[in-house]
Amino acid sequence: MTALTLSTAAAAGLRADAIVIGVAKGAKGPVVAPGAEALDKAYDGRLAGVLETLGASGGEGEVTKLPAPAGFKAPLVVAVGLGAEPEKDAEYDAEALRKAAGVAARTLAGSKKAAFALPLTDAADAGAVAEGALLGAYSFDAYKDSGKDGRAKGNGKAPLAEIALLGGKPRDKAYRAAIERATAVTEELNRARDLINTPPNDLYPEAFAAVAQAAGKEHGIKVQVLDEKALTKGGYGGILGVGSGSAAGPRLVKLSYTHSKAKKHLAFVGKGITYDSGGISLKPAGHNETMKCDMSGAAAVFAAVVAAARLGLEVNVTGWLALAENMPSGSATRPGDVLRMYSGKTVEVLNTDAEGRLVLADALWAASEEKPDAIVDVATLTGAMVLALGNRTFGVMANDDAFRTAIVEAAEEVGEPSWPMPLPDHLRKGMDSPTADIANMGERMGGGLVAGLFLREFVGEGITWAHLDIAGPAFNESGPFGYTPKGGTGSAVRTLVRLAELTAEGDLG
Ligand code: BES
Ligand code: ZN
Ligand code: ZN
Repeated sequence: MTALTLSTAAAAGLRADAIVIGVAKGAKGPVVAPGAEALDKAYDGRLAGVLETLGASGGEGEVTKLPAPAGFKAPLVVAVGLGAEPEKDAEYDAEALRKAAGVAARTLAGSKKAAFALPLTDAADAGAVAEGALLGAYSFDAYKDSGKDGRAKGNGKAPLAEIALLGGKPRDKAYRAAIERATAVTEELNRARDLINTPPNDLYPEAFAAVAQAAGKEHGIKVQVLDEKALTKGGYGGILGVGSGSAAGPRLVKLSYTHSKAKKHLAFVGKGITYDSGGISLKPAGHNETMKCDMSGAAAVFAAVVAAARLGLEVNVTGWLALAENMPSGSATRPGDVLRMYSGKTVEVLNTDAEGRLVLADALWAASEEKPDAIVDVATLTGAMVLALGNRTFGVMANDDAFRTAIVEAAEEVGEPSWPMPLPDHLRKGMDSPTADIANMGERMGGGLVAGLFLREFVGEGITWAHLDIAGPAFNESGPFGYTPKGGTGSAVRTLVRLAELTAEGDLG
């Protein structure tokens, strides 16, 4: 894990492997961002020109390395692109800082210590740089064997070990709080990434539940686990139906974080399919290699509840993890089977690959029984949402327009692209079943919205609810960018944490 501290040290005297500075795209070429004044001076005020000579433009994601000038203890300068220079008197926005810090941290993998001299105007900026750096430094090498000869673990390099934020104000309460928040949120988000990246032969429902129990003990969160026996007794037909084909049985995990001064209660519900083969409606080859990521919603919910507890937010947050492995076998649910759900409704399963909505339906109903002020579910639910919004944007549906807008805005604030999606009533009739109350599949067109409409029927009367379909951004199959690594991304964690904060502050609902 990367350690990060606020530092008042002067850049020149700091013993580090590198100094990170920002370079922005100005009207007439690259401009050196505030924070690097001492360095620019050591270059006789010609640093921007030097960078231009080296081909730098200041564009987002760009990295330019140059030797540090005489008098600097660190040997290397890493200039990261911040994108367009802000208008006069405006500041660099938080997301530009996060991305640049993330790129720098990733570039410096294998190094011990770096000093970040990026533009910081206030505590929020320090928080943004810390967040980007700690997320960008992430790597997953638990399965890269060290070998018998004692070589360093992994083929890759160890994450950057230590970061000093220059220009930070360690005596300022707001700065310290921003760093504490960034540390808690990124540690839990990176833990969610670990869970997503862990292969499904090791992360099955029972194993995930055990991780939740351990975290609950550590952070004072009450954790209750319903195993197959308890699920059967309780009548959780959706979760049981999806899990019945697997040798690794399903679980429903409830995490309760409570604060004595809480005025509101939020419920987060996560889809936790530890592997989605499609079941009897088996996915074709090419569509199941990354399906260990199908528990990303549950991982996000888990991380957000633990982060809320670590931050001591004045709000009650209940997390529900609907965990099952979707496998074909002699005991698996067949297309044509009817399940009796926890809510009492019956569902005709027409396609066993539309399993997420089945486990979520039970968890949504269980969450509703507590009558929270709002429920937000998070799920890698449909390929249709990926077709609609691409790989970096999640869709937001809700039974309340103002709540949906608030979520899109909160997501934007934390740097998670999202987009509001409708729940058109006319799509409901496609799920009419001749046998049961509803089928688990409807029209193919607008498949993401159809799934949302299905879920809406399992939300208790009068409860504000939103659904985040993160099928696109949950798992990054291409190369890393900004502070986002390849593999599990931790999508929606920061949005959920922000929603909990806003609720605690009385600014939501
Ligand atoms: N887990 C998948 C959705 C998914 C697709 C997640 C791509 C991440 C990337 C989900 O369970 C699924 O298979 N949905 C089906 C539903 C259909 C059968 C109605 C889909 O989207 O094709
Ligand atoms: Zn599926
Ligand atoms: Zn799935």
